[in-house]
Parts: sequence; C-alpha cells; structure tokens
Amino acid sequence: MGHKLALLPFINLNCKLMMRTKILTGILIFLSYLSFAQPGGRPNEIKKLIKVETERTALIFAVGADQKLYQLYLGEKLASDGDYKLLNLLNEAYIPAGTDNLFEPAIRMVHNDGNPSLELLFADTSTATEGDVTTTAIILKDPKYPVEVKLVYAAFSKENIIKTWTEIKHQEKNPVILSNYASAMLHLNADKYWLTQFHGDWAKEMRMEESQLTAGIKTIDSKLGTRANMYATPVFFLSKNHQSTETSGEVIAGTLGWTGSFQMLFELDNSNSLRMISGINPFASEYHLKSNEPFITPEFIFTYSASGKGEVSRNFHKWARNYGVLDGHGNRLTLLNNWEATYFDFDENKLTELFDGAKELGVDLFLLDDGWFGNKYPRSSDRSGLGDWQETKTKLPHGIGYLVEQAEAKGIKFGIWIEPEMVNPKSELYEKHPDWILKLPNRDEHYYRNQLVLDLTNPQVQDFVFKLVDDMLTKNPRIGFIKWDCNRMMTNIYSPYLKENQSHVQIEYVRSFYRVMERIRAKYPKLPIMLCSGGGGRTDYGALKYFTEFWPSDNTDAVERIFIQWGYSYFFPTITSCNHITTMGKQSLKFRTDVAMMGKMGYDIRVNEMTKEELEFSKAAVQNYNRLKELIWNGDMYRIISPYDEERAVIMYVNEDKSKSVLFSYALHPRAMNQFSSVRLQGLDASKKYRIDEINKMSGGRGPGMFGGGFQSGKIYSGDYLMKVGLSLPNNSELTSAVIELTEVK
Ligand code: DGJ
Repeated sequence: MGHKLALLPFINLNCKLMMRTKILTGILIFLSYLSFAQPGGRPNEIKKLIKVETERTALIFAVGADQKLYQLYLGEKLASDGDYKLLNLLNEAYIPAGTDNLFEPAIRMVHNDGNPSLELLFADTSTATEGDVTTTAIILKDPKYPVEVKLVYAAFSKENIIKTWTEIKHQEKNPVILSNYASAMLHLNADKYWLTQFHGDWAKEMRMEESQLTAGIKTIDSKLGTRANMYATPVFFLSKNHQSTETSGEVIAGTLGWTGSFQMLFELDNSNSLRMISGINPFASEYHLKSNEPFITPEFIFTYSASGKGEVSRNFHKWARNYGVLDGHGNRLTLLNNWEATYFDFDENKLTELFDGAKELGVDLFLLDDGWFGNKYPRSSDRSGLGDWQETKTKLPHGIGYLVEQAEAKGIKFGIWIEPEMVNPKSELYEKHPDWILKLPNRDEHYYRNQLVLDLTNPQVQDFVFKLVDDMLTKNPRIGFIKWDCNRMMTNIYSPYLKENQSHVQIEYVRSFYRVMERIRAKYPKLPIMLCSGGGGRTDYGALKYFTEFWPSDNTDAVERIFIQWGYSYFFPTITSCNHITTMGKQSLKFRTDVAMMGKMGYDIRVNEMTKEELEFSKAAVQNYNRLKELIWNGDMYRIISPYDEERAVIMYVNEDKSKSVLFSYALHPRAMNQFSSVRLQGLDASKKYRIDEINKMSGGRGPGMFGGGFQSGKIYSGDYLMKVGLSLPNNSELTSAVIELTEVK
C-alpha cells in the first residue's frame, strides 16, 4: 500500500506535460498495483502450491516470494496444476491485524510487550489421508515473536465438503491477548455477491432471505452464549455473480460447528473482493491465551457447487450422515411426546393412558416432557422446580422406573426430558448453590422463562450435570431416549468460578458443555438424545457430534413447519429433523402428517381424541413411514418447488441406486382456479421405469387415480418422462397434500 501512495507527488511534478503525464501515470499506477498485489515486487512468483481438494472442489494456497501464504483459488477443480499458477497472488489467506491490513482481520493479538501486531509467514505444511479424508495442515509463524498459527483443512473427497479450523499457540512468557480468532477466512472474487441468510425468533426459526452484498461489512451473528441460534442461524449461502437456484449457479454454503455466540462476517472491499470470516463471536470475548496452550477454534464446514443449492445441500447431508452427526446412519425412534398434549398437567395415570395411544399408533417410544420433577418446589409450571431432578412424588408416586416398566409392558420404549444447564430461583438447587449460577454481582438477577443459567465453566457444575444423566441411566438403564432442552440464552453474564477471566465465559461455557457431552458419550455412546433449545436454538454441527437429532421449532403449525423444515433442509439431513404431528394449526390431520413425514416423524397429540378414521389413517401412516423412513433419512433430497417461490412446495427423496423415490407435495394457499405447471422430477434414472402410487390417502378423500390430470396412481412412467415432462400434481386446493411413492419396475 505504501508504494501506491508514494507515487503521487512524483506524478504531480509532471503536470505541465499533461499527455505524457497521463500515460506515465497509467503505467506507474499499473506498476504500483503490481508491486502491491504481487509481494516482494516479483510478479506472481509462487514458491509453493498447497492444494486442498475434494472430488470436485479446489481450495488452493500459494506461498509467495515474501513467504506469506495466499489463497490462490476457491472453486471447481481445474484439470491441471499448472493452471493454478497462472492466477494472481491477491489475498493473504489468514490476515493478521496490526501491520498493513486495512480491512477486517482473521486474527488480532497483543503480545507480552504490548505490541498489537502479528505477521504470519509460511513455515511448514503436511498432509495425511485416511480413507476419504485428506487433512492438510499449514503452519504459519511470526518472524519476531514465538507465535504459531496452524490452519487445518480436512477435505472430504466424496462428500465434497471442506472442514477447517485454526490452532493458535505461543511461547511468550505471559498470556497474549487474542481479540479476533477466526475459524476460517475465505476470499472470493466476482462481479456480484448474493448472500442468503436464515434468521427469525422463537417459533419463527429459519426464515430465508437473500440480498446482494454492497461495499462494507455485513455480519450475521448471535450473542446468546448458551446457543448459537434463535435470531440468526450459523449458516449461509454465498452465490457468485448471479443468484443461484436449486440446479444452477456458483454457490458456497457454510456453517459453523459452535453451540454459542458466533459471527459470520462478509466484507466487500475497495477492489470488489470479498472476504468471509467465520468463527466464535469475538464480541466481549477477548481471550488471554497462556504459553503453550493451544487455542483451537470451532470447525467451519463448507461446500461449493457450480450447479446450485440442491447439490450443496446433498453434500452437507452426506457429510453429516457419514461424519457430522452422532450415529448418522443409525436407526431413529418414532415417538409420541406429551408436551403439547398435556403441558405440565399430568400424573402417572394420565401418562400410562397415553402409552396406550402410543402403542395403538404403532410408534416406538413415549417421551415424557417437562414437569416430572421437584418436590419442595414441584414443577407445576415453568416458575419452579428446575434444577431439582427428583420425581415429583404427588405426580409420579412410583417414580420413573415404574413408567419405564409400564411402557415396556405395552411394547414401547420410554424416554425423558431434561434441561440440566438451568435453574429456577424457586428451587432447592438455587438455595443450595447460589454460587453455581451465572449472574452479575451488584445487579438484579435477570430472568428469561423464569430461569437462570448454571455456571457450567465450574467443574462442580459439570459433575452435577453429568451425574444427573448418569444416575438416571444407572437407575433406569432401559430409558431409551433423552430430550435435552436449553430454554434460555445468557444475560448479565458473569461467572463466579472464572473470576478475573470474565471475557472467557462464553467460550468456556460451550467448551464445558462439550466436555460434559464427551463424558456422557464415553459411557452411553449410542443412546438417542434430541437437541432442543426452546424451539430450534441449538441446531449446529458442534453439538450434533453428540446428539442424534434436533428439535427445529416450537411452532408445529404444518404450514409454518413447511417453511421451517425447508430452511433446515439446506444444511441438515432429514434424519436429524424431529417433525411432530400436533393439533396446532388448522390443517387436516393428513396434511400435518404428510408435512411431518418429510423428516424424522413423531407425534405430540392426544390419540384418544382422534376419530376412528383419524386413528386408522395415522396407523397406516406410521406403517408407510416405517417402510419409507430409510429412503427419507438416507436418500438424496431434491427440493423441486420452493414455498418461497410458489403457493406450493414439492420435495422428493431418491435412494442410492435410484430404484425407489418418494415425493411430497403440499398446496398452501393457491388462488382460485390456479393452474400450476407440471412438476419435473429430479434425481431419477432416465432409463428406469417407475410405478407411481399415491399413499397416505385418507378415506373419504381422493381415491386411487384421482389426483391431477396428467397421470393415474398405479401407472408406469419412465424416469426420462418424469424428469423431462413431469407430473401434474394435485396442488390446486388450499392446504391439501399428496405423498407419492415411485418404485422401479423391471
Ligand atoms: C421448549 C421445547 O422446545 C418444548 O418442546 C418443550 O420441551 C418445552 N421447552 C418444555 O419446557
């Protein structure tokens, strides 16, 4: 940058010779640009190329003549390495603050002597391959201070996913201060950039919005401490040049594996170059890093596609099932939950009656939700009892063990809700351990849902949480499922345990949560545990390493759910999304069932209030689901028509050998006599023939062969026809739906 400014007085001296000056100016500006853009003044000298590649994507780094590490390329893999060398060294890969950087840095550090700068030069690189995964580590060092920054990139070849994180270490005498510590910095160069973000609130999770980035900074972040999500989800799409569709356009999709405050920052600079920085939110989180203690950032997981959002979602889904989610290919239990059916108003008899409903439906498990604990302060509402994990004697005189037995006697498993990180002020736990709570000295307590957050950074609190789970499972080893809730964010943040390091609280809290989960998983490796956070507050791959599924939202109105589930489907596989059929909303039971079926189906309903016809329909739906769930969970997902584009939504799943598919079609609020075009299917084998069957029909509804104009149930079509001509689906009447099964016929 210095070179460029130094040229200006020289140019002014030549002002009399205007023409010559103009030419000279042009040449000089060009030369000065080269000397700025190409370090060391040696145009594009690449001393070393470092490749991070999947089957289709390449992230290429180069070491320049100045020994700095540059990001040379991010996009579709090029056939020849020589071609990468034709590119310019424009963007330093992981930009430190304090020297010549003029935009947002990836890292900022203040050394022991007060020097607030860092210079990072390439020192070493290594790669290791294990099966499908190649991990590249690049070590950068400061030439003047004993600081090392390791950038790690794990490339998942078949899944086309890159997972990256950073490890920061030093050997200075005293702690250094880290005020920025990105998991990833990525650079893009395009004419235009389109950012898709997902935001909302409680019961309005995952609202999708796309906008064109303008010069300056756009930040997606949260400052919630105990959870990443609520107002903003740690996920994004960035489309280059044009908005991408499901099947076209260059798009990068990224997400951060961190169950706490996060930041994703997009800065468009003076040369229209974009830097994307993702990581823990550095807000109020200055970190005092001790000598030789590595600071390991959370993982940023991303994928790239030159053919639109559908492919990036499928990449995420495959990666998540193979690597990102606990037991990603395992079984999941269909369940009946009592939350919306009873709220806090239940006792032993009412519960055992509900077991009958679960059995009748044919689900695998009954899940007892909030309200089963507390004696001095019984949990009869959300005002009391939280933290006192003993069965309420008046409600459950024979305890949990009896409920497990009763459920099993009826042929179903039993699962239970806990919210172990929280406490009501009206509880014995609060009375006994006031020092176990995150709260500011000299300030009033601040409640959200009448509760406070426990100070999980305190090892005694970690033991308490672990013990609660461990004791319960030791006493009742046949508990088949846990729902782990977290109903509030942090406010008035102060840890009595961490004392002087208050800016560490948010980071240490999440690390402590993972520490507890490590202990639980070491002892109970496969027990299904649902991640829940007052609706969809914890939906991230940091937590999903320990959890088998998540609760997307407390909003179970089926129309709202189409949008919410649609949003999550971009980044998370269906096997993780718990979709329950409830009585919220005005839609028919069939509509609600069809919506829940596009993920991990469950119920939260009073079965004894169903009509005979509804019960018969539901029993058949559970059977259909059991037959199709393998395909829904593990098949490739194709979002065919988005509810954001039309008054309908169509989504389908295709199994690996393309012999089986299921399609869900939902009509929202189409205008009278609306004529929808045929729906062209995707992902099938053009050379195969498929029989089409409508399932989940409700008697009294449409009979066989009655839907739409273009085809009949039971008819056979070629994959070619279905993908080129398509089906005319029955989506003209408001709030109707259809589930269509496609089976290969030989
Ligand atoms: C919030 C969850 O999202 C609900 O499903 C339910 O478990 C309640 N908490 C219970 O308090």
